[in-house]
Amino acid sequence: MTFKLTSPLDMHLHLREGEMLKTVAPLSARTFAGGVIMPNLVLPVDNENRLREYETAVRQACSPHQFEPYMTLFFKNYSAKFLEKIRDRIIGIKLYPAGITTHSEGGVDSLQQAQPTFAAMQELQIPLLVHGETDGFVLDRERDFLSNYAWLAKSFPRLKIIMEHITTAAAVDFLQLYENIYATVTVHHLLITLDDVAGGMLRPHLFCKPIAKRPQDREALLDAALQAHPKLMLGSDSAPHPVHRKESSCCAAGIFTAPIALQLLLVLFEKYGKLDYLQDFVSDNAQWIYDITAPKKEVRFEKKNFSVPEKYGDIVPMFAGEELAWHLVEP
Ligand code: DOR
Ligand code: ZN
Repeated sequence: MTFKLTSPLDMHLHLREGEMLKTVAPLSARTFAGGVIMPNLVLPVDNENRLREYETAVRQACSPHQFEPYMTLFFKNYSAKFLEKIRDRIIGIKLYPAGITTHSEGGVDSLQQAQPTFAAMQELQIPLLVHGETDGFVLDRERDFLSNYAWLAKSFPRLKIIMEHITTAAAVDFLQLYENIYATVTVHHLLITLDDVAGGMLRPHLFCKPIAKRPQDREALLDAALQAHPKLMLGSDSAPHPVHRKESSCCAAGIFTAPIALQLLLVLFEKYGKLDYLQDFVSDNAQWIYDITAPKKEVRFEKKNFSVPEKYGDIVPMFAGEELAWHLVEP
């Protein structure tokens, strides 16, 4: 049995820089037709030079695979003039609350003070991508941030707002409340709960931000994904860290799923008899939401066991050493 996907897109992806970029980029580029590339590098992507340099490095690392890197800028208070100049080089601007996650120290302290930038983005039709967590109690951070999304959606009704990597039933419900609100969801949040991370022995390779939540949250996310909720799209948030940063007394947040994300979704959608909805979830919804046309690329998978490698370079992937029932057919 084989299954074909057309132009799968990963709408939230960390590729990093240097050697790490060279290791991970081909693992996304061989299966995906494109991806939204996160700007939270050690030196954030927050000016035109950095953007050009990083885009060039990403394209080089993905070559010769056909893969469109949809670049993002790290949110700062930018002038309308600068945004107008840069508009065609980016798919959106990613907002991190200051200090909330990896390399986000230069993020936003006050949404109020960012209003002129939001207004300019709205006029220029530049989507706003948001890491929506407060600095409150870890399980409540996303839910507590929803009031900020409401304020943004109401204050800037023509601004396209993407709630990145949603993890709660409350966020799924929130999608219905405002026309200009959309979301990405990761594969791992469809599969795990906090119990998998910390219910037994601590599993550093399952630690990410936002942290996996309760069973009822996972179920709500899964229900929405399996029916390819039109305002929801795949964003793997594949976030590689070298093994010594994960297996450490201070474990970095991030789960590396890029090489197996689509295979995991095949297993999941097949299990629930929903394979017919997978194409929308991994590509068509994103193209509609962002109003883009992805490069045409057909990817085939075969129902055949695949052993997930223990490591890719010095990065341990999710499900390292385990068997998956679907295998990528190399072109
Ligand atoms: O787990 C995460 N890792 N969440 C994020 O928001 C950032 C990411 C990273 O860059 O490592
Ligand atoms: Zn991310």
